[in-house]
Parts: sequence; C-alpha cells; structure tokens
Amino acid sequence: MQWYADEVYLSWVDKLAADDFVIIDNYIKDDMFRLIQSFFNEQRKEDELVKAGIGSLGDHAINACVRGDYIYWLDKSRDARLEDFYRMVEELIEKLNRYCFLSISDFEFHLAYYPEGTFYKKHLDQFRGRNNRIISFVLYLNENWQKGDGGELKIFGDHEQEIEPLAKRLVLFKSAEVEHEVLLANQPRFSLTGWLLNNPVGIGYI
Ligand code: OGA
Ligand code: NI
Repeated sequence: MQWYADEVYLSWVDKLAADDFVIIDNYIKDDMFRLIQSFFNEQRKEDELVKAGIGSLGDHAINACVRGDYIYWLDKSRDARLEDFYRMVEELIEKLNRYCFLSISDFEFHLAYYPEGTFYKKHLDQFRGRNNRIISFVLYLNENWQKGDGGELKIFGDHEQEIEPLAKRLVLFKSAEVEHEVLLANQPRFSLTGWLLNNPVGIGYI
C-alpha cells in the first residue's frame, strides 16, 4: 500500500527542486492527525518536553533569545505508537531518494511546542560540526489557526514567504540552503518537526 501515487511525489519533488521548499497541505488524514495529537498531549501531561537548546551552546539565557520552544525527541522503539507515521516518512524517503537522487538513510523527529510569546530566530538547520541533515520536515498541528495567532514559518531567499502553521500542513525544505525563522507565536504552537538524514553506513563489521 502506498500513501501517495508516484505522480504526486513527483509534483512535490519538482517544486522542492525548483524553489528549495514545498508546501503540502493535508499531508496526513484525520486519524493520523488525532493519533499524533493525542500522543503530543500525553507527553505534555507527563511533562516530557524540555527546553530546546541551540548547537553546542549550553547557556540557557542565550538560548532564550534565539529560540523558545520545548521539544520531545521521538524514539522509534519507545514511541512505537507512531509506527504508521514512521512508515509514511519511510515512503517519502524512498521517493525522494529515487526522484531527487538523494541518499537519505535515516530520520530524526521531535515534537515542538512554542508557548505564547516565543519564536525561533533566523537560522539554517545545518550547524557547525554537523551536516547530515538533508531535508527539513515540519508538520503543523494547529487546528483553528487564525491570522494574528502568529508563529508563521518565514522562508528567506528568492521565494521569500510566510507560511501559516495550519493543521496537517507539511513543509519540506533543503536543510543546508534555506534560511528560515519562526515568527512570534501569539498562541501556543505545535508541530512535529524532523530531519531526513544522510548518515554514513556503519563499517562496524570490518
Ligand atoms: C526548527 C525550525 C520551523 C517551524 O525546528 O529548526 O526551524 O516552523 N522549525 O517550526
Ligand atoms: Ni529550523
């Protein structure tokens, strides 16, 4: 079973190649949305989200000036409830590798919660000492988002744009190329954010 037809993937890939990013509305169906939402609520209830850091800087006072979100890193075996979501991502990776000639071999995801009054300043998702992030993947979870709620994803570059963080909307962009920023959130803002990675295959058996 495939989530999307190859022609659909091709249309996304074309857009990603042309503009360095693509916006995909209604990437997930309602049952997947509810699943992610209830998982997110559980982690919040259990206080599992922690203040996000930046790069290798450990200073929380500095961090707060750059980004104000709280995150929870997913673990494929511990968080097996999201198995269907991982399968969707695996299909996406397979198509990106085939049609974009990429060599993505892994992924990492976290839940992200921006409390009211927080943001993430302009940055690139590849930082010093780390260049294995190929594609950034942001799936928004904000039902009933309205103008004025803020928290738009601002993309810089030739196709500068402010993207509303609407529920079920997925944004993919090239991690090494696209500078971006999360504008001030005036309402709590939720997303499932991740990176498709090019991790060198281990040579552990040699
Ligand atoms: C990030 C990021 C964008 C968004 O986590 O690096 O830029 O819209 N997120 O949440
Ligand atoms: Ni980013």
